[in-house]
Amino acid sequence: MSIDNRVSGRTKIVGLIGNPVEHSISPQFQNTLSKIMGVDLIYIPCKVDKNNIEKATEGLRALNLTGFNVTVPFKQLVMRYIDEISDDALLFGAVNTVKNINGKLYGYNTDADGFMRSFKEETSEGFHNKKVALIGAGGAARSIGIKIAMEKASRISIINRTRSKALEIADIINSNFGNIAECCSFEELRNADVIKNYDIIINTTSVGMFPDIEGCPFEIPIKFSENQIIYDIIYNPKKTRLLMEAEKCGCKALNGLGMLLYQGILAFEIWTGLNVTEKAIKQLFNLFKYGSVQQDL
Ligand code: ATR
Repeated sequence: MSIDNRVSGRTKIVGLIGNPVEHSISPQFQNTLSKIMGVDLIYIPCKVDKNNIEKATEGLRALNLTGFNVTVPFKQLVMRYIDEISDDALLFGAVNTVKNINGKLYGYNTDADGFMRSFKEETSEGFHNKKVALIGAGGAARSIGIKIAMEKASRISIINRTRSKALEIADIINSNFGNIAECCSFEELRNADVIKNYDIIINTTSVGMFPDIEGCPFEIPIKFSENQIIYDIIYNPKKTRLLMEAEKCGCKALNGLGMLLYQGILAFEIWTGLNVTEKAIKQLFNLFKYGSVQQDL
């Protein structure tokens, strides 16, 4: 038996607060990233009762953690208990990453940047002058929609079961970035002449996510054209019904693993002040996107 040297008195600690946290791959991902980068940092999951978010945040400050990630259902609520929030996170209406600097807590949001970096790296395309259909109007849709507007998309159509929520996001986009967002119905989008007008279609709803793997936000079959890009932020299963349909039509079809990995990489960079190297990113993608870990998701 040898001594376990993984944690010493100097090891920095970061955590994940959420509920549930058991399904999360962030602990494995962040601890692997620390190892690859040679940083003495560990990442631990903290399942927090919904009534304890304030105490948990204060506890992490009192224990002098380096920072933490925030996941469902606390991304909005946590904003009340941190000291300074980045402009982007304020606009997105959610914080997913907190850094503790000498007892002061700074809030950031790396979800939308993670999405954007994954999209650009995996498609070699951007959103400038693009027409985008954004399916869903929850927290993820809000931050992704705003980020796409920042990148100067020419039109953003938001489609959601509950229209009032889609309208809210369209209003935020239009009042900050000019009149580019609108609401659209699933019925309108079913029309082949309408759907073919979009360059990029993004699903942010949970329709199609495990265990609802037969679910699809559109009625099947769907007539996508082969020059369209379909991005589903779901990563379990790695190929949703929507992505299967997209592939049948010859489109570029991407799942949400890239977004998940990049939001984690960006959080790590915030905590450590380091730039994660291209070589490390390649290793991480080989392990978590193309390798064995993804089978366990
Ligand atoms: P997230 O933070 O991941 O965006 P969320 O805020 O709970 O999660 O949003 C979930 C999204 O999935 C919403 O757009 C939701 O539609 P409603 O606003 O109408 O609730 C959408 N969604 C979830 N289940 C759905 C279903 N069965 N059919 C259509 N949309 C669904």
